[in-house]
Amino acid sequence: MAQFTLPANSKVGVGKTFPAPSGAKDVRAFKIYRWNGDDGQNPRIDTYEIDLADCGPMVLDALIKIKNEIDPTLTFRRSCREGICGSCSMNIDGTNTLACLKGIEEVRGDVKIYPLPHLPVVKDLVPDLSQPYAQYTSIEPWLQTESPPPPDKEQLQSVEERNKIDGLWECILCFCCSTSCPSYWWNGDRYLGPAILLQAYRWIADSRDEHTGERLDALEDPFRLYRCHTIMNCTRTCPKGLNPAKAIAEIKKLMIERR
Ligand code: SF4
Ligand code: SF4
Ligand code: FES
Repeated sequence: MAQFTLPANSKVGVGKTFPAPSGAKDVRAFKIYRWNGDDGQNPRIDTYEIDLADCGPMVLDALIKIKNEIDPTLTFRRSCREGICGSCSMNIDGTNTLACLKGIEEVRGDVKIYPLPHLPVVKDLVPDLSQPYAQYTSIEPWLQTESPPPPDKEQLQSVEERNKIDGLWECILCFCCSTSCPSYWWNGDRYLGPAILLQAYRWIADSRDEHTGERLDALEDPFRLYRCHTIMNCTRTCPKGLNPAKAIAEIKKLMIERR
């Protein structure tokens, strides 16, 4: 798995250690990135020693335990706790993934947790997703048609047409892929990145959508699409097992076919 760098804002110091309760037998240290823009301090790594015998199996369970029982100031996003909402994406043990799907036992030694890399940090493990969400808006992620809908039934697809959006609709917009992509690190203001390009292809590949030409026109740009150099970090890191690099390759193929 690819290893990623620290958030770009930082001289990271050593913070506090919260020791395990006395009598704990199965202790694991969680080393967690902390930063609060309001306190004027540099970022630091706090260490929380957790008794795994008294904690759920996932990294998110440990984070919730820390917040509820040890340090309520620790800040992170989460909602569904089952890999559906995309909120709990972060960098765990050097890889971007979902805290709710990452088993503590999958990590050897200390569990090191940082926010998704190469995005501004709002606080602790919470990255600022304004840029990727603005890029998501830019691809107009909804079905666009010109023909009037059938008056008395739904707009149907054949099984084959429906199959074409498998591997695309499952994307939960966690941005693990985009924040593992070197091209997005360096050109994220102009390159759309793998998450958004996979989403763009989801609508291009949908047989019911009638704006394929306009969608491809909007992507025909040296930066928005063509900054992908097929490095494949995106596909390696996707916690949902999707293949954004393939979706990008399909868009590039369509660009060539229509010339
Ligand atoms: S394949 Fe493209 S999008 Fe994926 S990591 Fe590489 S450059 Fe980024
Ligand atoms: S393609 Fe995978 S890693 Fe990328 S945003 Fe979607 S679910 Fe997350
Ligand atoms: S909490 Fe929803 S994906 Fe992890």
